[in-house]
Amino acid sequence: MFDFKSGATTKTEMWADVLSAADAVTAGEPDPIANMANVSAVLFHGLPDLNWAGFYRMGQSDKAGGELVLGPFQGKAACIRIALGKGVCGTAAETGQTQLVEDVHSFPGHIACDAESRSELVVPLMNKGRVIGVIDLDSPTPARFDVEDVAGCEALAHLISPRLGHDH
Ligand code: SME
Repeated sequence: MFDFKSGATTKTEMWADVLSAADAVTAGEPDPIANMANVSAVLFHGLPDLNWAGFYRMGQSDKAGGELVLGPFQGKAACIRIALGKGVCGTAAETGQTQLVEDVHSFPGHIACDAESRSELVVPLMNKGRVIGVIDLDSPTPARFDVEDVAGCEALAHLISPRLGHDH
C-alpha cells in the first residue's frame, strides 16, 4: 500500500503533495484504470473537506460526439453517464474549460449525484487538443474551492492526461 504522509498545512503545500504523490503512483504505469483509481485515492485522502473525488471519461454513446462515462472515484456511488453540455461535468467536457462552482444549487442543470455536495470543481483532461475526460471534486461546504484549487487541479490534469492510456 502507498501511504503518503503529509505535514502540509497550507493549500499550496497540500496541492504540491497531491501532485508529487500522483506523479509517484502513475509514473511508468500505462494502465489508465489503475492510474485513475490511485489518483482518486490520492485526491480524496490528500485534500480536506471532500465528499467525492474521481473521473469521468469520454465514452461512446448512440449520439454523435460521445458522452461522459463514470470512471474510478472515491465517494458515494454516482451517475454513470452524463451527456455533453449537461451538469458541471458535461459543461467542462463540452467547453474544455474548468468549471468552478461555489454553490451547486445555483448552477443551472447541476446533476445531484450526492445530495451532500454544495460546491464543485471540474477540470477537463486534454490529450492532443481533445477532451478525454474530466477530474471532478465535490465538497459538502459551499465555496470550498478557489483559484488555488483550480491551479492545483489543472496542474494535476496536465501531469496525468498523458498517463491515461490514449497514447498506448
Ligand atoms: N454534480 C456533477 C455530477 C457528477 S457527481 O457530482 C459525482 C455534475 O453536475 O456534473
